[in-house]
Amino acid sequence: MTKDLNTLLEVAREAAKQAYAPYSGYKVGSAVKCADGSIYSGCNVENASFSLSICAERTAIFKAVSEGKRDFTAIAIYVDSDKIFPPCGACRQVIHEFSPKIPVIYANHHETIESTIAELLPGAFSL
Ligand code: THU
Repeated sequence: MTKDLNTLLEVAREAAKQAYAPYSGYKVGSAVKCADGSIYSGCNVENASFSLSICAERTAIFKAVSEGKRDFTAIAIYVDSDKIFPPCGACRQVIHEFSPKIPVIYANHHETIESTIAELLPGAFSL
């Protein structure tokens, strides 16, 4: 993995510390790198009304978009767990909306997987 992606993953790992996950126990962090070099991070934020919960990836992307960034070059996701998981379907669709080809790096404390959004969401819906 490149130094850049490693740094991005480190930002995601830090963001996971802010996760509000009292229901699932899965603390997730994400970091998205913008074409201008800036990085936006986010964590999952759960709610007692479960369907209102938001994933870390969408928190990070929505933060970036609301600050005027739409051109992303990579996204990293870190989960503080023995399990490792790729972005959920909803997050894949949101990642694809802005950056249909970017690398997606997901990791936990002992494993890192490098993929791309094209690989994770083949045949994506778009308008
Ligand atoms: N979660 C994420 O933050 N990202 C994903 O891509 C999958 C799931 C969160 C949502 C919820 O707070 C917890 O992980 C368990 O599903």
